[in-house]
Amino acid sequence: MLTQAPKGTRDMLPQEAYLWHALEDKMRRLSALWGYREIRTPVFEHTELFQRGVGGTTDIVTKEMYTFKDKGDRSITLKPEGTAGAVRAFVEAHMYADPLPAKVYYLAAPIFRYENPQAGRLREHHQFGMECFGGKEPTVEAELINLLMTLLGELGMENLSVHINSIGCKNCRPRYHEALRAYLGDRLGDMCADCQARFEKNPLRILDCKQEKCKAIVSGAPSILDCLCEDCRAHFERLQALLAAQKIPFAVDPTIVRGLDYYTRTVFEVIMQTGREGLALCGGGRYDNLIEELGGPDTPAAGFGLGLERILIELGNRGLLPEEPSVSDVYVANIGADRQTEAFAFTQALRAAGVKAEGDLCGRSLKAQFKYADKLGAKFIALVGGEELERGVVKLRDLKTREETELPLAEAPGLIASRVNG
Ligand code: HAM
Repeated sequence: MLTQAPKGTRDMLPQEAYLWHALEDKMRRLSALWGYREIRTPVFEHTELFQRGVGGTTDIVTKEMYTFKDKGDRSITLKPEGTAGAVRAFVEAHMYADPLPAKVYYLAAPIFRYENPQAGRLREHHQFGMECFGGKEPTVEAELINLLMTLLGELGMENLSVHINSIGCKNCRPRYHEALRAYLGDRLGDMCADCQARFEKNPLRILDCKQEKCKAIVSGAPSILDCLCEDCRAHFERLQALLAAQKIPFAVDPTIVRGLDYYTRTVFEVIMQTGREGLALCGGGRYDNLIEELGGPDTPAAGFGLGLERILIELGNRGLLPEEPSVSDVYVANIGADRQTEAFAFTQALRAAGVKAEGDLCGRSLKAQFKYADKLGAKFIALVGGEELERGVVKLRDLKTREETELPLAEAPGLIASRVNG
């Protein structure tokens, strides 16, 4: 137990850190190009935020939240998703008083859901999320999907499908609820207990049930797209035209309803095919009522969340992971323990010149230092000591070509920096 991470969690080990950094660098760069600025919100929030924001009938709220009482007897929940916290911060900081839209992203935000762990499903995962507050036009969703597909394209991912749907608004959704209830009414007895409970409170949730018997019944249900009001239909059509104009392939998929209650109009997912079942890499949509429901002014909004672990798994499966950069380019070997001080100073001088350098921290013999330098994958060994040091030079050995050169001690860091860093 003591040396085992809790079920459904993963360590990011040092040898994987560069992968996360590579992803994060790309995400930061594209976010900046698209005019999104970073937001960081707490890992935990008041439980009520998610009950109200995500919805009391969702699986996330009813089954999956890590909720506990703190020492002040407040109910606290570890973030089960990123949107509600970002909206809370937007309202609390009165960001709505600034020129809108306010465009924010969060990077590698830890998300906690008590789920059954399996491939690509963890109890702690990390999301890159983007939220645009204050834009009502479908250009918002088109821009988000454009950024998303640019990112996935830059990562080398192909054969992903963008599934889009519209789940209507306050005006037209009740009409769909009625159509759905009329269809499900006689069949309700054959559905799971959860769906029976959802029937009155939130029938749309039934479309998201994972139970086979419910899925089979739902497959014949009326489509929400037939119940959209004129405004929602026009919004959805315009989004499709924008995506087509950007040459982003997409499929209209009326089965996408998403597992969170805040969505209005557009919902979308990016699906990758893993065996028989598709797994969502990313999910998002428009949520025009959430800001007001959480105490802010009436402000339209949209966003998405992308699961970073799923991206890394998929990049690994497709052989697209970047190579790990060297940990140290130059190993500074001290020729004899009495030269440790000079070697130490030289290592610092290399670092100051921008060279990734490492010296002996373990009191190793010269032979053992060479071995270690090899294991480190260093490109060069700089030898500090011996008669070379008496003459004021260091010897630089290229570990690939075995070629050796002598460099004056004072200029060596600069010269080595230009050789190593180009
Ligand atoms: P979500 O679809 O619940 O949406 O999660 C977004 C993404 O997080 C998923 O597509 C998936 O890649 C990843 N993910 C979700 N659960 C797990 C898990 N248990 N293990 C590993 N990865 C997982 C949201 O969370 C919304 N807040 C997205 C959003 C932002 N909508 C509007 N703005």
